[in-house]
Amino acid sequence: MRIRVENLWVTFKNKVALRGVCLDLFGDGAQVVALIGPSGAGKSTLLKLLKGMVRPSVGKVWVGSFPLHEGGGEGLQQVRKRTGMIYQTFQLIGRLTVLENVLIGRLPHLNLTQGLLRQFSEQDLAQAERLLEEVGLLEHAWQRADALSGGQQQRVGIARALIQEPALILADEPISALDPKNAQVIMDLLLGMVCRQGIPLLVTLHHLEMVRHYANRVVAFKDGQVFFDGPVSALTSEKEKDLYFGEEEASQTLGGLPSALTA
Ligand SMILES: Nc1ncnc2c1ncn2[C@@H]1O[C@H](COP(=O)(O)OP(=O)(O)OP(=O)(O)O)[C@@H](O)[C@H]1O
Ligand SMILES: [Mg+2]
Repeated sequence: MRIRVENLWVTFKNKVALRGVCLDLFGDGAQVVALIGPSGAGKSTLLKLLKGMVRPSVGKVWVGSFPLHEGGGEGLQQVRKRTGMIYQTFQLIGRLTVLENVLIGRLPHLNLTQGLLRQFSEQDLAQAERLLEEVGLLEHAWQRADALSGGQQQRVGIARALIQEPALILADEPISALDPKNAQVIMDLLLGMVCRQGIPLLVTLHHLEMVRHYANRVVAFKDGQVFFDGPVSALTSEKEKDLYFGEEEASQTLGGLPSALTA
């Protein structure tokens, strides 16, 4: 699913999170795009926007053929339904079983009554079990989710995202809370699954060696702007140093805002 972003600005009260961002992702055959940059650069804001959880203040954003900037309705529901999200802190419901947590990924596919009554179909159940088997957790299906280790919880997060039948997966620092070995296990698992199914993945990472190993393309944000966008091989150590240790190019004040935002 191609993503196009034109002159995107996102502001929160008096803070600018994204300023004049232009991007064209996944139209070029790249399947894994890494999003990097210092803390506060706007990476999570971009992911939330693509999931339809944050609205653009100015600019245009298409997820597939849907214009997110035109707002709500059925199209927005479709974007939310077809976009799987994986979080740094896993976001499982600890008191529910592992299987129930995976099935939660199917909720957007149910109608209101089915959703309220948690009436999952036989196919949904079978698919949840298949995915748990694939992430190596079938034997834990009936255990409470909060009894699992961090690495295991993130595997449930992956299964929950995939049961949605997503056309796009957004992963916000999926390995930041894990030790190096589990981080690698999770990345291998995630990449293996999305590549087999041909699902584009936009993933925020802080470990640059992981970016080099797993991504086809890298987009670096600094202070709400695109600082670098290109193949991983073009991200030189000099650029990298500049990204994290160079001077800030703009402050996150309201300076430089388009007039539509200041009027
Ligand atoms: N809901 C909000 N209300 C106010 N400001 C916000 C909100 N969400 C994000 N911001 C601000 O927007 C800027 C970008 O935040 P964002 O979370 O996107 O950064 P990030 O690149 O994901 O950082 P990190 O690497 O620390 O996760 C920050 O200055 C942040 O404080
Ligand atoms: Mg973030």
